[in-house]
Amino acid sequence: MALSDTDVADVVDSLSLDEKCSLVYGAVDPEGTATGYVPGVPRLDIPELRLADGPLGIRIPGRSSTAFPASIAVASTFDPELARRQGVAMAREAKASGQYAVLGPGLNLVRVPNCGRNFEYYSEDPVVTADFAAAVVEGLQSEDVIATPKHYVANNQETKRLVVSAEVGERALRELYLPGFEAAVEAGAGSVMTAYNRVNGTHMSDHRRLVTEVLKDEWGFDGYVVSDWFGTASAVGAATAGLDLEMPGISLEALHEAFGIDSDAEMLAEGDDESIPAGETTTPKFATELKSAVESGAVPADRLDDMVARILGQMARIGLLDGEWGDGGALDTPEHRDLAETLAARGTVLLKNDDGALPLSDDDDVALVGPGVAEAMLGGGGSSEVTPAREVSALEGIRARTDGSVAFEPGVERVVTPSFFDDADADADAAADFPGGKTPDVDAAADCAREADVALVVVRDATTEGADRETLRLPGGQDELVAAVADAADRTVVVVQSGGPVALPWRDSVDAIVESWYPGQADGDALASVLYGDADPAGRLPVTFAPEGSYPTNAEERFPGVDDEARYDEGVFVGYRHFDAAGSDGEPTYPFGHGLSYATFEYGETEARGDDAVAVEVTNASDRDGREVMQAYVRPPTVAGVERPTRELAGYAAVELAADETETVELSLSEHAFRRYDDSEGWTVDAGEYVVEVGRSSRDVRAETTVSR
Ligand code: BGC
Repeated sequence: MALSDTDVADVVDSLSLDEKCSLVYGAVDPEGTATGYVPGVPRLDIPELRLADGPLGIRIPGRSSTAFPASIAVASTFDPELARRQGVAMAREAKASGQYAVLGPGLNLVRVPNCGRNFEYYSEDPVVTADFAAAVVEGLQSEDVIATPKHYVANNQETKRLVVSAEVGERALRELYLPGFEAAVEAGAGSVMTAYNRVNGTHMSDHRRLVTEVLKDEWGFDGYVVSDWFGTASAVGAATAGLDLEMPGISLEALHEAFGIDSDAEMLAEGDDESIPAGETTTPKFATELKSAVESGAVPADRLDDMVARILGQMARIGLLDGEWGDGGALDTPEHRDLAETLAARGTVLLKNDDGALPLSDDDDVALVGPGVAEAMLGGGGSSEVTPAREVSALEGIRARTDGSVAFEPGVERVVTPSFFDDADADADAAADFPGGKTPDVDAAADCAREADVALVVVRDATTEGADRETLRLPGGQDELVAAVADAADRTVVVVQSGGPVALPWRDSVDAIVESWYPGQADGDALASVLYGDADPAGRLPVTFAPEGSYPTNAEERFPGVDDEARYDEGVFVGYRHFDAAGSDGEPTYPFGHGLSYATFEYGETEARGDDAVAVEVTNASDRDGREVMQAYVRPPTVAGVERPTRELAGYAAVELAADETETVELSLSEHAFRRYDDSEGWTVDAGEYVVEVGRSSRDVRAETTVSR
């Protein structure tokens, strides 16, 4: 039986001021396993609290755990139930390593296609983000682990992330950037991590309106708010704004020592060099200033009590205070491995497939080209890095699946993802030999492609926390490699492993394009299952692919900002909302929601069910089983003086249909797509007729109906 709130209040009452203070900032983990650690209070049998990084798996220094696909790949499944299962699996892995909280999910919106952390986030759409947020939080917390949605809020770029101010209007905050966090809170999230950046001039650690008034008072969040690492701007400001726990609460040097990082590459410095004031990230604020601030009354004593009660309340909820915590931990189980593979395969998006270039035939002779085909693409660099116990490269996966021959050529030099933790290993990787002693040679790759039935080119980007991509182009001459192979081969299939949208300049000269994001440890197996048609490519784009210059953030004042201010002047016109808007100067290359299947789906009768659902008949009109992601978008009525997106995603459903099978599927429509936020009236639903478009993507509408409000 978990302790009640009254029991927790009694515990708080029995703590001394020093003991209370010791519970609201971090310390060095004596075991060296936790990313964040709070020592317990032995006098009162209060145990320690350990927090481990996510969101792609559990990162424990020196240990392995399941490396799940990147969050953007998980969202591409359009199947939140899979995210819930991932949450359960990650919680079990956290437990097996003695960790009580997971620092994830990442819920920032994909506003800027160049953002180095897009792979840790779900989507450019708030409904998708909210659904996946709720699902993964439910999964994590069902196993008595505290979820930590992050980074609250408007942390949409890495450039100058410690100082930049997102100058963002209330409407865009409410309609786009906050819903993921609100959904996570509704799902019961026990903690929320504040972002590094400022919002409208105030650091998020010190943002009383967003932290206390919105998150705690308006949404009823009763867990604890934790800072991002070294992201506490002030002691008094943060404590009175509502921050409950400062992390890591130790100096950068102590943290490096605890993690055995002997390089002098500062964890936070990449991309931020100019923006971190010297010494600023090394001084824990609550550790040094909070006690005297409480003694002087600058921070009210009951605020400190509330901070402690919120932390102990979560420890009580998961059974830590009464010794009930701990059953059900498991690492690297067959179930977790299967889930990692299912997620990777389902999240794979078939962008283009001319003349049935895919699926491959079992006996096709394959030329496998690319600098990364011998290494699984685990993720981007930064705090989300996970070391798996096993991993399957594209080369291994294809070799295991095919009955034909597989010839390999790297084509160009390795593209190495920067790592926060193993600089030495990364250098070694870069220098390591390719299998078979191959050397990078574009001509050899083209010759190899010429000989085969099909050329499979696997290309990748290299993104990391702490830095944004300078360009959406693939690095390291890979675009030239694809072009050369496409020129030589009869049939060219390109597999893109990227953390977000990338430019595909060669797309008209290749036969098929597969986006597999960062697929994690099951890379090669998942890829082979999709390429050979064992699994239908069921992924759909949760972000728009468009020409580099056509995104709404393509102006310096919007991204990366001028004078440390990034102006969110595009308002709610982010992602497909921008590309759909009249006057937008670019067409998407592949629109939001896009993704082909090997099967063919026909949409039939479509009718509204009440005012918050539509029923749609869908038929698999092909001779193979398939998985369709049906999407419903709402088009609002015109209201004088109000600018609204042309359409907004309201609901979706992923359905498995056998060949020739017909099913009537009900899609529920989120109220979020009907309402708009009015700066003076708050949430407003305009009366009138709303068109509900049902289709295969935001630009491939197959049926329509209407509902009224
Ligand atoms: C990241 C967080 C992460 C924390 C702890 C920060 O650099 O922004 O996402 O959880 O470090 O590793």
